[in-house]
Amino acid sequence: MSPKEIVVSGIRSTGKLHLGNYFGAIRNYVRMQQSHECFFFVADVHSLTTHPEATSMQENVFRILSECIAAGLDPDQATLFVQSDLPQTLELYAYLNMIAYKGELEKTASFKEKARNQPDNVNAGLLTYPVLMAADILIHRGALVPVGKDQEQHLEMTRNLAVRFNHKYGDFFPEPRAFNFGEPLVKIGSLDGSGKMSKSENALSTIFLSDPDDQILKKVKKAMTDEGPQKPGTPMPPYIQNLFQLLELFSEKTVVAAFREDYDQCRIRYGDLKQQLARDMTAFIGPIREKAAALQADRPFLNRIMKQGAEKAGSSAGATIREVRRRIGFNYGPGDQDGSVR
Ligand code: TYM
Repeated sequence: MSPKEIVVSGIRSTGKLHLGNYFGAIRNYVRMQQSHECFFFVADVHSLTTHPEATSMQENVFRILSECIAAGLDPDQATLFVQSDLPQTLELYAYLNMIAYKGELEKTASFKEKARNQPDNVNAGLLTYPVLMAADILIHRGALVPVGKDQEQHLEMTRNLAVRFNHKYGDFFPEPRAFNFGEPLVKIGSLDGSGKMSKSENALSTIFLSDPDDQILKKVKKAMTDEGPQKPGTPMPPYIQNLFQLLELFSEKTVVAAFREDYDQCRIRYGDLKQQLARDMTAFIGPIREKAAALQADRPFLNRIMKQGAEKAGSSAGATIREVRRRIGFNYGPGDQDGSVR
């Protein structure tokens, strides 16, 4: 039997998980956890680029872990860990920084956006954010990276760095690909039509996995609509497409088809669509919310998961970093031949 393909992906601990995180990433984590060798982690080091407060760090990390498990991740199938528990990743980050160039990093869309959003804190970590991501993936020699659309450019950078390393030090890393089972990568738009759902912005237009039912209904009711199409065959504006995308994710096919027909025949009632959507969303989110809340209160369980994950991920990362050091030429004495410490 051929070895399972290696899958790596992470989520920053900068707030509560939302539908974008679920449909862009976590749903695929769950689908892949049995068939692939999976490493999923909470990116707490990355969170320092924008959210450096020590006081909220633990709560944020425990929350993401709990919400991922409540949404279906099984820590006995996938390796689930916290980024800062793997010093090997930070070591590889240092090496990759030597083959990453300021010009290409400055061109990254996410850097430009974050530099615009926090002009008083354009730290070097923001600039080298994609290099740390590449280290996260390459430290396990990951080949497939389930992510949402917003991470596509970062994956391109990971591939560039892998190719550059291989060229310099001999073939070693795979060229990782953003993965969504052959489908286009997902983007879940915010309900006000202004961008994407996000952990740390636009909370009133983002549906969180922890939102109570009445909050979900309130947010969905406020979603941007218009007076509806006036002529049959009118194309949907993006904010209406977004509502239909959500409806497709949560509701029965026949229900979606009926609303589509109503739209085409210019008799759509957005109030009815929103009621239906909110009902189907709450039915889905309710059990995840309850389970996550129970898990979050169980720190001994979460600590056990983190420890078990750190051990498994650490052993994979250790094997990679030993080989990386050897290839770079950091093998000075007899003790280094097998990668052990002098
Ligand atoms: P983060 O924490 O912003 O998001 C976690 C995952 O959720 C996806 N996502 C979305 N998908 C669709 N629609 C949305 N509105 C939406 N918002 C978020 C993201 O694409 C992501 O898959 N840089 C990463 C974390 C990271 C990482 C990595 C990912 C660090 N190292 C290595 C993969 C591999 C981030 O900020 O994700």
